Amino acid sequence: MNNKLLEVTDLKVSFYHETGKVQVVRGFDMSLDNGEIIGILGESGSGKTVSATAILKLEEDDVSCIDSGTVIFKGLSLLDLPETELRTIRGNRISYIFQNASSALNPYKSIGKQLSEVLKNHKLRYSKEIVLSTLSEVGIEDVEMVYDMYPFQLSGGQNQRIMTAQCIISKPDLLIADEPTSSIDASLRKIVLDLLKEINRKTNMSVIIITHDFDVAKYLCNRLIIMYGGLVVEEGTIDEIFKDPFHPYTKELIVCASSLTRGDDIVYTLEGFPPTPFEFGNECPFANRCKVRLPECTSGIPRTLEIGKRKVRCIRFEER
Ligand SMILES: Nc1ncnc2c1ncn2[C@@H]1O[C@H](COP(=O)(O)OP(=O)(O)O)[C@@H](O)[C@H]1O
Ligand SMILES: [Mg+2]
Repeated sequence: MNNKLLEVTDLKVSFYHETGKVQVVRGFDMSLDNGEIIGILGESGSGKTVSATAILKLEEDDVSCIDSGTVIFKGLSLLDLPETELRTIRGNRISYIFQNASSALNPYKSIGKQLSEVLKNHKLRYSKEIVLSTLSEVGIEDVEMVYDMYPFQLSGGQNQRIMTAQCIISKPDLLIADEPTSSIDASLRKIVLDLLKEINRKTNMSVIIITHDFDVAKYLCNRLIIMYGGLVVEEGTIDEIFKDPFHPYTKELIVCASSLTRGDDIVYTLEGFPPTPFEFGNECPFANRCKVRLPECTSGIPRTLEIGKRKVRCIRFEER
C-alpha cells in the first residue's frame, strides 16, 4: 500500500528585492509518510521556513516566487491548484503553527467560541462535542468549564494546549510546526513537545517540525533533513545521523550541540557565518567553513548523492 502523504521535489524559491530576484531556497526535497514525524534542522536563515511555507504557497505572489519544483500531497499537485482549492487545504488538511505564534489566542473571546470559529472558518461541521473532545485530546481536564473560560483565566501551559487544539480541531493529515518551542518558556517546552508526540501517536497525524535545536529533533523525530545555504545537505534517520553524520556541517552541528548539553565551560561553536542568499555562489555553501574542504568544493554546487536510504550533498562521497 502506498503510505506516502507528501512528496516535495526540487523546490526552488526566490524573493524580489530592489536589486532584483534572489533565490533563497535552491534545492529542497522531502518525502513524508502517513504518521511520520520529520524534522527540518539548520541554522537561522538556512531556508527552513521559506521551504515549508512554499509547500502551501503562503507567500504573496508579489513578494516571492516559486522557480521550480513539485509538491504532491495525497496525490494532488498543490502548486498547480487554483487559490480557491488551496484554501480548502490550508488549515483544513494541513495546519501550520507559525514561528512566534504566542498571540494566536484572542483575549476577548471564550475558548469555546475561538475553537468553534476555527471549524466555521474552514466550513467544517460544528458541534460543541467536537470542541470538547478536542480539548480533552490536548490534555485539558475540566473541558466543560474551560469551554466558557477566557485565555487570561488559564495558565501558560493550558493556553499552549488550547493553541495546539486550534491547529488540530480540523483533524488535519499534516501539522507543520515552525520552531514551536522557541518563543515559549523553558518550562512549557516539554508540554508542547509531549503534546505533539501524543497527538501523533493517537491520531496518526504526520508532523513536520522545523527547529534549529538538535535536542528537539532528537526528542520528536524519526527522520531528519539538514539544511544549509538554501539546500538540503543531508537526510537520514535520527539514529543514523547521530551515530555517523555524513556531511561535515552535520558533524559540526552535533559537536556544538553536545558541547552545549554537557555544559562545557567554553561551549564549542562553529566559526564564521552561513552565507546570505546575496552571497550564494556556484559552490558548496559550506566550503568556506569546512575543515575537510577539497579544491573541487568551490567548483559547482554538489549534487545530492543517495547512499542506501540516506542522502548527502558533499563531493567527498562521490565515487572516485
Ligand atoms: N519576506 C522575505 N523577503 C526577503 N527575503 C526573505 C523573506 N523571508 C525570508 N527571506 C530570506 O530567505 C532566507 C531563508 O529564510 P528562512 O526560510 O526564514 O530561514 P530559516 O527559517 O531557516 O531561519 C533568509 O536569508 C531570509 O533573509
Ligand atoms: Mg524560520
